[in-house]
Amino acid sequence: MTNDQNHVSGATRKGDKIISISCPNCNKNYGIYEKRIPRHEKLIAKCKNCGHRFPMLSHYMVSNLSGDNDTQKQHPGVQTAARTIAVSISKGGVGKTTTAVNLSAGLALSGFKVLLVDTDTQGQDSYMLGIKPAAGLTELLTKELDRKRAIVSARKNLWLLAGGKSLAGVKRIIDRKDFGGELMLSEALSPLENLFDYIIVDTSPGWDPLTVNVLFYVKEVLVPVALEVMALQGLVQFMKSLSSIQNYRKDVTLKYIVPTFLDKRINSPGKILNKLLEVYGKFVCSPIHYNSSFANAPAFGQTTFEFAPGSTGTDDFKKLVRRVAGDDNLLK
Ligand SMILES: Nc1ncnc2c1ncn2[C@@H]1O[C@H](COP(=O)(O)OP(=O)(O)OP(=O)(O)O)[C@@H](O)[C@H]1O
Ligand SMILES: [Mg+2]
Repeated sequence: MTNDQNHVSGATRKGDKIISISCPNCNKNYGIYEKRIPRHEKLIAKCKNCGHRFPMLSHYMVSNLSGDNDTQKQHPGVQTAARTIAVSISKGGVGKTTTAVNLSAGLALSGFKVLLVDTDTQGQDSYMLGIKPAAGLTELLTKELDRKRAIVSARKNLWLLAGGKSLAGVKRIIDRKDFGGELMLSEALSPLENLFDYIIVDTSPGWDPLTVNVLFYVKEVLVPVALEVMALQGLVQFMKSLSSIQNYRKDVTLKYIVPTFLDKRINSPGKILNKLLEVYGKFVCSPIHYNSSFANAPAFGQTTFEFAPGSTGTDDFKKLVRRVAGDDNLLK
């Protein structure tokens, strides 16, 4: 791997820390001695394997999760252990991944250290963030890789444990366990909590062993509800499932209901929103409007803050960040 003048791979130096970088194009991993990396603002690396050039300092640096200055929590007044929040509901296509990714990005932009965990075999969180990690949650859960190799840096302050097809095998492993299968995720993620301010967990549609694992791990649940016919039915169904988990695990609670796809041109979403407020009052956050930029941004691997910074969708996510962090001054 090279930058314009400096060849940085293959270097050797005693007492220097090796950081790991993977090429976003071919996923080839490199270990590089940190002191050999030139401190340029816009350092461009070139992959020796495929020749791809990519920005190095902001992306793909995964090693610094051991408490050096870059990753120590710096946000004033932040709690010591991470808050753990699942973005979950069984109904598909309601905005879980859009919410998990953009909420995480907004918290990261506010200065919090955020780990986004994708527990879905669709693996769409990496796609939405425009990265192709070589490894992720599967490797951490199966202990093939340690956290430094399984977690990738996606943006400043934002790290990702990627999902993907390989999680199907993990579900089979959980199924085969005689006991404790529901705690597999908890055992893998709990040791990471002192590194982050927030651990946001995106879940798959439906109800599977990994969803159960998520609800045996997180303390808070955020439920996106698309404002369409049958929305309340899906929510009531999910609340029943959550309550069956709460019979065994008391400290997981519903914290936020986020109405999504609010379209003011149509009457019925307003009515559904009123019904939601009537039934679930204090849990209901201000809604995320229908906005075509949410459907377009993933193709560019960008969050709403990058793709459409001035849009209503971005304003909606700023409000959600403030609500979740409990700080009205963030992202103003
Ligand atoms: N507020 C919105 N306005 C317009 N389109 C949206 C909005 N939120 C999400 N979308 C789009 O709707 C589709 C489904 O969203 P998303 O993938 O976030 O849902 P999901 O609940 O994670 O789906 P799944 O259950 O399959 O995981 C995506 O194409 C997304 O870009
Ligand atoms: Mg999803």
